[in-house]
Amino acid sequence: MKRVITLCILSCLAGVTQAHEGAEGVIKERMDRFKENKESMKAIKANLGGDTSIIAKEALAIKAWATQMTDFFPEGSTQSPSEALPAIWENFEDFKARATANAKAAGDLADLARSGADTSALTNGLKALGKTCKDCHNDYKE
Ligand code: HEC
Repeated sequence: MKRVITLCILSCLAGVTQAHEGAEGVIKERMDRFKENKESMKAIKANLGGDTSIIAKEALAIKAWATQMTDFFPEGSTQSPSEALPAIWENFEDFKARATANAKAAGDLADLARSGADTSALTNGLKALGKTCKDCHNDYKE
């Protein structure tokens, strides 16, 4: 019994430290992931008339992040240098819906790329995807 309590105290203390570091850690991590998104968008654009396997790969990377991103927004994590707006937590269901729309558009683009769609269809897919990034930034990013 005593041992259990000791373990609990240790893990509880660890939890406190982690929560504190986590506030910075999670913001840094999501900013890094969003930067990767930007690189993916560039790579997709550069390959519109080129290698569609790169388009599919990068679109799937965007989709993967879109399905996790809301977990990287613990309530109130707006500490500098974050550009996240408090509106996120006032409308968290809507914020999640924007992330879902982003995931769907990215998945659709990957499907197009894998089905041998032409450049014009791929360009439209990229535009649709870009719109879902902007839709979220307009309301939830500084
Ligand atoms: C559901 C909302 C949402 C979606 C969808 C979304 N973003 Fe963001 N994005 C944010 C928020 C919120 C921030 C600010 C994060 C922070 O600074 O803590 C951000 C930040 C960024 C940044 C700045 C990162 C930095 O280091 O300052 C870039 C670049 C970015 N997003 C690109 C994209 C691209 C490209 C897409 C689409 C493929 C996208 N985002 C989709 C909400 C979203």
